[in-house]
Amino acid sequence: MYKKIYTFDTTLRDGEQTPGVNLNQKEKVEIALQLERLGIDIIEAGFAAASPGDLNAVRAVAKAVNEPIVVSLARTNKEDIDAAVKAFEGIKNVGIHIFIATSPIHMEKKLNLTEEQVISKSIEAVRYARQFFDHIEFSFEDSTRSDMNFLCSISEKVIEAGAKVLNYPDTVGYTTPWEYSERFKILKNRVEGIDKVILSCHCHNDLGMATVNSLAAIEAGVTQVEGCLNGIGERAGNAPLEEVALALETRYDYFRKRTTMNLKEIAKTSKLVSRLTAMPISATKPIIGDNAFAHESGIHQDGVLKDKETYEIMKPETVGLKESSLILGKLSGRHALRGKLAELGYSLSDEELSFVFKKFKDLADRKKQVLDEDIITLLDKEITNEIEYYKLKALYISYSTPEQPYASVQLLDKYELVQEEGAYGNGAVDAIFNAIDKIIDLNIELLDYKILSVTKGKDAQGEVYVQIKNEEAVSQGRGISIDILEASAYAYIMAVNRIKNKIEQNVTL
Ligand code: KIV
Ligand code: ZN
Repeated sequence: MYKKIYTFDTTLRDGEQTPGVNLNQKEKVEIALQLERLGIDIIEAGFAAASPGDLNAVRAVAKAVNEPIVVSLARTNKEDIDAAVKAFEGIKNVGIHIFIATSPIHMEKKLNLTEEQVISKSIEAVRYARQFFDHIEFSFEDSTRSDMNFLCSISEKVIEAGAKVLNYPDTVGYTTPWEYSERFKILKNRVEGIDKVILSCHCHNDLGMATVNSLAAIEAGVTQVEGCLNGIGERAGNAPLEEVALALETRYDYFRKRTTMNLKEIAKTSKLVSRLTAMPISATKPIIGDNAFAHESGIHQDGVLKDKETYEIMKPETVGLKESSLILGKLSGRHALRGKLAELGYSLSDEELSFVFKKFKDLADRKKQVLDEDIITLLDKEITNEIEYYKLKALYISYSTPEQPYASVQLLDKYELVQEEGAYGNGAVDAIFNAIDKIIDLNIELLDYKILSVTKGKDAQGEVYVQIKNEEAVSQGRGISIDILEASAYAYIMAVNRIKNKIEQNVTL
């Protein structure tokens, strides 16, 4: 019997703190459902006290999933705990994740509190939360720069107050594997009652050590690992859970511990998170990067052809990377599409299927082979529920060197009225964005623009990400089309719609 390592996924909370990432409620639910299929034990759905929108999203996630425990983050104050209580009203299998900083610099400069005050606020918060929650996790923010004696004494008090999980974040990605594991050994030796709680690690990747630090903590006896899919998160991100899970699995001979993650769902989850957060995955990213299982050099290819294990320590199938068994094209019917959706993990009502089938047929008319990615992309387009202030109706581009490109854009506004403008630009994309700017009446600054090919082949779908800002908010959008200029317009319009939604809901900078 192996020792189980619990997985705590914070893609929807710490991951959403990635600069520029902003998930709406439907997207959060979509990711949470996939995290459930991935077999995650605990999902941190957000920070209910942050805004009414966050509270509703936390509630929606908790209602949507069955198996994982869903938690909300909270500071050590009554208002934050009450917000979590409100978010989870009437829902089972939920918990709270309370945190306070314990390092000298954070206590003095950020909180302006003494050690004694931090201890008493922590005890008070846990006792208060106990009235509402059984599952209480307590985190000591910046624990790896905290004084060890203080950490031991506050840990003891928090356990006495009723916390069930103690989490020691390496908030600024500062620790090393050796130091981190040493800290857990000291805590286990010195803290009264520590054997009654679950110990957890939470690592950031500032020095590129988040995965290895998490593994060191696990080796030192921690039984819960926190992280985000694809390693997204504040600054350089959080520990990528897929890396930790695969390291445990591949080196089971060494660790003798494993998660109960359904590893075959990793590729799908990773792609979904990448797409909805508009955070592309680097080709050399372990486990999930495009090159993770690719072999370029002749010597390597020769070895792999003779025996895969010469250069592959893991199988692509283990993480769900396999060639599709069902290839769809323009002759495929509803039945084939339903089968493909099931294979991809989607279950749609008849009405939804009819809607998606129509879109699928439109795409199949333009594209010879419709790949899994195309289908996922198609479904993604349908899962945002924000107000569409503008929709692309038509796009005309005039491009001939050495003239400046000119774009004429027709948008349908939310009253279905056509608005049309034209503009020159430094390139075709610039011209499109300038023309859209003339219609939307917002002062937009383009922060980021990326093009990716989502599918393979000459008629591949291209995906464009844009990040924009105005005086009030930052937002991002993505657009997918077999034409990259059309994809750019979609992405820009999506980002504009999001900024407008944010301004409307008062979620501003
Ligand atoms: O990194 C960190 O310290 C955190 C806490 C809020 C748990 O994310
Ligand atoms: Zn964190």
